[in-house]
Amino acid sequence: MRGFLNTIDYSRPELERLMDAGLRFRQGIDMSKPLAGRSVALVFFNPSLRTRASMQVGIYELGGNAVILEPGGTSWTLEHRDGVVMDGDRTEHLAEFVRVLGRYVAAIGVRTFAAMKDWSEERADPVLNAFAKYSEVPLINLESAMHHPCQALADMMTIREKLGAGPKKVVLTWAWHPKPLPMAVPNSFALAAAQMGHDLVVAHPVGYELDEKLMEIVTQKAIEAGGTAQVTNDIDQAVDGAEVVYAKSWGAKHFYGAPDRDMAERAQYREKWIVNERKMARTHSGIFMHCLPVRRNVIVTDGVIDSAASVVIDEAENRLHVQKAILASIVNRES
Ligand code: CP
Repeated sequence: MRGFLNTIDYSRPELERLMDAGLRFRQGIDMSKPLAGRSVALVFFNPSLRTRASMQVGIYELGGNAVILEPGGTSWTLEHRDGVVMDGDRTEHLAEFVRVLGRYVAAIGVRTFAAMKDWSEERADPVLNAFAKYSEVPLINLESAMHHPCQALADMMTIREKLGAGPKKVVLTWAWHPKPLPMAVPNSFALAAAQMGHDLVVAHPVGYELDEKLMEIVTQKAIEAGGTAQVTNDIDQAVDGAEVVYAKSWGAKHFYGAPDRDMAERAQYREKWIVNERKMARTHSGIFMHCLPVRRNVIVTDGVIDSAASVVIDEAENRLHVQKAILASIVNRES
């Protein structure tokens, strides 16, 4: 039983096959219905536009039925920790929730997101791991504390579609944002870009380093794939000659649980780290990417996101196609 929790669980040829399959869905060449007569559960612990809508539409287009659950809203509040006395406000344990759902559906997609309270705990993805521990059907990670692999695969598909196959200079740049955000998107983007053999530059201010162990894996994967992985605090130098500028804000690990301290620290970076026309002019006709939602004139100027260089809408569309490929691959493998 194999789900889709992290691109690291897939080889580069396997990821390329999923992108190829996504392209066939996009082009209307593949109209198969591998989910006919079957259901997929989608569990959301936090809000979503793209992930929720693209999964629900994708399941429908594959012939299936989506069961959407929001713990604490449309289903019971959930406890994920083992051995706790459940005399607080959490009504149901994942041990029952996940196994019961598995009796109804062919696969479970789950967005757990990050609480951003305790870095040492959250970097181990405890809620996603509890789902994985109890699930008797394949699981799809729809964004956990540490990873957003469906987004990353759609990102890689978009780069390939816009710029062709082969290594590109890809810059992942931190950006100022009025609140600290999780690291799932930058983690998964860096990892997938390294797996695809791109020349990756991760640019961020001092103090906003990605997870050290993750960066070790990113570097190793880049070497294995014939690419490179660099980290810099100099955003202007980073974008020189870039073919892709991927913007994303994230919180500092050492300020998890202390958002006010993060905000005080990052105030100095507000002007410098926005993606604007001046930075894009330094690129090699670079494209602008962001996972969305994005705050205009905070992360990126209107002039950039509304320019011909911006591919954010196609990038969001590719979520649908690549997730159909993931779903089809998972259920075809199981049947
Ligand atoms: N990019 C992304 O996952 O968007 P949503 O949070 O709207 O699903």
